[in-house]
Amino acid sequence: MMPDVKEVLIPSSEVQAKVRELGARITEDYEGERPLLVGVLRGAVVVMSDLMRNIDLPCELDFMDISSYGSGTSSSGVVRILKDLEEDVTGRHVLVVEDIIDTGLTLSYLMRSLKARKPASLEICALLTKPSRRKVDLDVKYLGFEVPDEFVVGYGLDFAGAYRNLPDICILKEEVFAS
Ligand code: PRP
Ligand code: MN
Ligand code: MG
Repeated sequence: MMPDVKEVLIPSSEVQAKVRELGARITEDYEGERPLLVGVLRGAVVVMSDLMRNIDLPCELDFMDISSYGSGTSSSGVVRILKDLEEDVTGRHVLVVEDIIDTGLTLSYLMRSLKARKPASLEICALLTKPSRRKVDLDVKYLGFEVPDEFVVGYGLDFAGAYRNLPDICILKEEVFAS
């Protein structure tokens, strides 16, 4: 275990089991379709990579980069599109994939932007949610786990850009993000 990690919150085995379960539900719900999975850079890349391999359909893949955080630990509420989609989503079944929903500001902005492009359907798959931090309501159809208001890293989630490569979802030692 990396020295900056206080504890493992969700071990890799549980994450993998959940991702398989979400993939199976998505496979069933989108039967006969060719869904477009939209990942939000950069945190979603790990869950996206595992999730798509658990969907037994001809999926397509695209990414958006949206900024809200900078390098701090709390949302500034400032949302900006840094990189837009390559694909036209009009008439497509779009599934947005996220690692975590915190305040919900990132996704509520993104969902508004995507909805305006008239997809055939638009849903959210988020591995984690922090309900205690939510500022805006979001309808999350595919959800992995609820997590407490702790600073979690790993499986795509970073602190100041690092720790995304941890296979488990971990809680950092306070001294790491307090310094
Ligand atoms: C994190 C996380 C979500 C967003 C959630 O991304 O991956 O995308 O914040 O926060 P919110 O619900 O309060 O908007 P971040 O902006 O840190 O970028 P990253 O994915 O590159 O780490
Ligand atoms: Mn993100
Ligand atoms: Mg981040």
